[in-house]
Amino acid sequence: RQPKDSPLYPLLEAATQFFKQALRNHPAKTKAVEYLKKRGLSGEIARDFGLGFAPPGWDNLMQHLGGDSLQQKALIDAGLVVDNAESGRRYDRFRDRIMFPIRDSRGRVIAFGGRVLGDDKPKYLNSPETPVFHKGQELYGLYEACQHNRQLNELIVVEGYMDVIALAQQGLRNAVATLGTSTSEEHLKRMFRLVPQVLFCFDGDKAGRAAAWRALEAALPTLEDGRKVRFLFLPEGEDPDTLIRAEGLDAFQARIVQHGMPLADYFFQQLSREADPQSLEGKAHFATLAAPMINKVPGEKLRSLMLKRVSELTGLDSSDLEIPAKPAGEND
Ligand code: GTP
Ligand code: MN
Ligand code: MN
Ligand code: MN
Ligand code: MN
Repeated sequence: RQPKDSPLYPLLEAATQFFKQALRNHPAKTKAVEYLKKRGLSGEIARDFGLGFAPPGWDNLMQHLGGDSLQQKALIDAGLVVDNAESGRRYDRFRDRIMFPIRDSRGRVIAFGGRVLGDDKPKYLNSPETPVFHKGQELYGLYEACQHNRQLNELIVVEGYMDVIALAQQGLRNAVATLGTSTSEEHLKRMFRLVPQVLFCFDGDKAGRAAAWRALEAALPTLEDGRKVRFLFLPEGEDPDTLIRAEGLDAFQARIVQHGMPLADYFFQQLSREADPQSLEGKAHFATLAAPMINKVPGEKLRSLMLKRVSELTGLDSSDLEIPAKPAGEND
């Protein structure tokens, strides 16, 4: 999935060091340091996540690493320098931003996220796809979580860099984030190779709730018996960062215990909203929606229990529901 060796790795590492140095030494560092403080982050956490600062200006990184045209080409390939074909101009992609290095499972920096210090747009900028970075596969914070915990039992999936780091700051060192993409089956397979439990904790807004349902759909085909997926829905307007800072670690953990909703519960709650199994028509609709999804579950016990629930809710025979999903195109 990822090249064993690439000249981009040392280049990305050198960039990481440059951004870290700038956070320590650059004349403009103060506002970056103040920003991180304002967000409740300690120097220790900044160190653990390798946070840095891309100073203002068009070519700081290029000047620092620049060199010959071969090096320039490598910087472009690494996603660090933008090569504007029309104007013929080359400039640093990340300027005047807090830098979050994204590491692969071996700890190599493969990309960056960068956040503005204020309210400018775009709020976040990510590295483009490169030979070493395929964002649909990566989980921000996974390497750091593995580094910090000898034995992980559960991973918490959140939406953003800041959520991962804020949870770590409060003591929850097992959060990861997808990188601006929805959770994929690939992401889940990857997590389940490491842990038996995954907790999704997205923002308490419309986008977060939509992301939760998509995560459920991605999770179904990975649900072997013994694996556990839960969802924690946050109050409207909160995200894991704002909430854990407001209520503290203990309350947040109690919230997970009390309100962490098992996947099957969430599944039936949502489907009952979609198709009310009161009327016969509702029951038929309910079964039509539910059965093909449940049949994706590889865990025989879980699948069978979920089908039994559909059977109880609709009166249809469990065995009639256990039909493999029709291949596409066979429908009309
Ligand atoms: P903070 O404002 O720093 O707390 O960020 P957030 O993570 O809470 O932001 P939000 O909930 O708006 O977005 C969640 C995630 O989506 C971010 O962490 C980013 O990965 C991504 N995202 C948000 N805004 C942008 C953007 O403008 N561009 C890109 N490429 N990604 C974004
Ligand atoms: Mn790719
Ligand atoms: Mn959001
Ligand atoms: Mn958010
Ligand atoms: Mn946030």
